[in-house]
Amino acid sequence: MFKKLKTKWGVGLLRLVIILCVFAIGGSLAGFAARKIMAQTSVEHPIAWTVLYIVVVTVCWPVAVLLVSIPFGQFSFFRHYIARMGQRLFRRSPKIQEPVDTQNQPIENQLSIINLAIFASGAGSNARKIIDRFSDHPRIRVALVVCNKPGAGVTTIAAEKGIPVLLIEKERFFRGDAYLADLQQYKIDFIILAGFLWKVPGALITRFPQGIINIHPALLPKYGGKGMYGHFVHEAVIAAGETESGITVHFVDEQYDHGATIYQGRCPVVPGDTADTLAARIHQLEHEAYPAIIEKTVLGAP
Ligand code: GAR
Repeated sequence: MFKKLKTKWGVGLLRLVIILCVFAIGGSLAGFAARKIMAQTSVEHPIAWTVLYIVVVTVCWPVAVLLVSIPFGQFSFFRHYIARMGQRLFRRSPKIQEPVDTQNQPIENQLSIINLAIFASGAGSNARKIIDRFSDHPRIRVALVVCNKPGAGVTTIAAEKGIPVLLIEKERFFRGDAYLADLQQYKIDFIILAGFLWKVPGALITRFPQGIINIHPALLPKYGGKGMYGHFVHEAVIAAGETESGITVHFVDEQYDHGATIYQGRCPVVPGDTADTLAARIHQLEHEAYPAIIEKTVLGAP
């Protein structure tokens, strides 16, 4: 169960324990507050008392949990957790709304649009394929390209396609608000990493649980981790004498190249391969698979 929760919330073990403590303490505090409030009422009928008690606990619980989350440093997680619960409860999910069957419109037009932000640092060949895949899509839209390198190829592609580019800088990304306000402004639902070489800060992982997808040019868990990107990966694969390599699409958690795997595709490593020839084969795999995997994942298809 712990493993499932770690994956679902995209957190490490220590953080999971802290979150569970907040749930436990917040829950007890809500129960305590509710009993104090009930003592002030004159309701005596046992059924009426129980119903009212449940209502009072339900109201107290989010307040108590949010309060407790502050000293534990988990306010941001719980704020979004409670907001999502509220949306689910009142059926106002920003991702998928209940289809209303009217006569005039196709059903997909009545579902809300899923906005993607592509994070990339380099040439952007994957970003181009993703943008092309969703350019006329009825449900999915690339709303923003986020880049940490001014002048990177991906910024030219975005400009060509009329997609806004957000250039980010290290200090604010890692030690500021991680650009959450900008992502909110573009109503981003999912973050897609396509050759993005900075680590994703915890603030983004908390804000987008199971909502950040990465592609890695090897068969994880092998050849992943800090410093393993682009040609370094292919050089390591060839140096190790592997006869097979491939790609891994996975959810992002707090460790490099570590979150739950969504998809793996394989290709051979042939004698005489260089990092360049292997990179070309891997890129082809990525271009064929990544946009389709993203589509399935964000639409929640099995
Ligand atoms: C891709 O091969 C992607 O898998 C890799 O960077 C390349 C970006 O190419 N990502 C990593 O190595 C992440 N660890 P592109 O800019 O042409 O899409």
